[in-house]
Amino acid sequence: MSLQQGNPSAPGNNDRFSSAGFILAAIGSSVGLGNMWKFPYITGEHGGAAFFLLFIICLIIIGLPVLLAELAIGRAGRGSAATAYVKAGGPKAFAPFGLLQVIAPFIILSFYVIIAGWTLHYAVLSFSGKLFSDSNFSAQFSAFTGGYMPLIWQLIALALTGFVVARGISGGIEKFNKIIIPGLIVLLIVLMIRAVTLPGAEAGISFFLNPDFSKLSAEAALVALGHAFFSLSLGMGILLTYGAYVDKRQSLGSATLAIGAGDLIYAFIAGLIIFPTTASFGIAPDTGPSLVFIALPAAFSAMPLGAFFGGLFFVLLAFAALTSTVSLLEVPVSYVMERFGWGRTKSVVVVTISLLLVGLPSILSFGMVPWLDNIAGKSFFDWLDFITSNILLPIGGLVTTIFAGYYWKGAAEAAGLKSGWFKVWIFTMRYIAPVLMLLVLLHTSGIIKFE
Ligand code: PFF
Repeated sequence: MSLQQGNPSAPGNNDRFSSAGFILAAIGSSVGLGNMWKFPYITGEHGGAAFFLLFIICLIIIGLPVLLAELAIGRAGRGSAATAYVKAGGPKAFAPFGLLQVIAPFIILSFYVIIAGWTLHYAVLSFSGKLFSDSNFSAQFSAFTGGYMPLIWQLIALALTGFVVARGISGGIEKFNKIIIPGLIVLLIVLMIRAVTLPGAEAGISFFLNPDFSKLSAEAALVALGHAFFSLSLGMGILLTYGAYVDKRQSLGSATLAIGAGDLIYAFIAGLIIFPTTASFGIAPDTGPSLVFIALPAAFSAMPLGAFFGGLFFVLLAFAALTSTVSLLEVPVSYVMERFGWGRTKSVVVVTISLLLVGLPSILSFGMVPWLDNIAGKSFFDWLDFITSNILLPIGGLVTTIFAGYYWKGAAEAAGLKSGWFKVWIFTMRYIAPVLMLLVLLHTSGIIKFE
């Protein structure tokens, strides 16, 4: 591997995505744990199908235009996320906001990879049948997360991620997604068929697909928009970084549509797995770890061939998580290569070791070190999730819309849209998206509240 391989700032570097490889890698980044453990819960809380409709609207009207902007800025800058705005021709004042979009995915990865490790552990536990030998899933989960085993699984997840990223863009990230995504699709279909054919599944399907518009509210709209951003991996420097590896001839408009469609279909099928399963076993479509690692194992344990389907489910989650962790890791790695002129492998090693250190308090906040479990009402892990998803992510989105809408002279050429579509896009960037992003930020940071 050459020392400069994959360094977007290195002169003459040609490590680029192929057209299909890029779309798959971006879908891989968007498809993640969020669709499986945040999406069902917030959908359940905000009226089921009506909320899903709102999510689709937010994704199309705001998510896709911002996605296109990030990719176009990334491709125009051909640098890391930190320098993308300035290298694309923007004022120096944008530089700190670029750097913020390197720090944010680094922090996200420090805790996201812990959960990726849990999913690997649960896949093994499920296939071996051990998970189902004791029906107290809550106690099993606490015993596991409060012990030292998560450290080992986090290390495995991080090593896998680092290995892929160290192999570069076309030979690593692209190849990995080309192998994993077809597997992910097969698993999704198998698990969806299993879920919708469970006895009593209809109640879950109808909750997910029959809209109750009375539950819609301004709050639901902001939650839907925030989740569309999280789910598309926006505002986190990921698409700025991936954009730098996209060929000049690639149509960003059609890539954006394909990525949006991929994420939407995944969210839809995730809903068709979670809602029928939880309805069939009379459990709440809860959020986060308690849904995935406690409620669903209870459901799997009660169905025929449960260990097999449970195992498949955790492999699905692990696949979805790892295609996201590679995209998260590429952001700081590309920054370090650009900033210090290091080779890819050295950068991966340094960033990965730093991640282990930064992730340590998160992993210890599940019971090993009691005070980390409750810092002003949240665990260390929850604080990192809160700050990154609710504050840094909307700031990242806001900066992109303001940059593309007001400060970017090269926008028309870089976005490559036909004149009519360009007008719609730039109007969204100037007048709609920044206002809505600001509202999301004020809402998620708790400054505005709805009763
Ligand atoms: N989009 C992925 C998910 O929904 O899980 C991964 C992800 C990327 C999450 C970036 C959050 C984020 F800020």
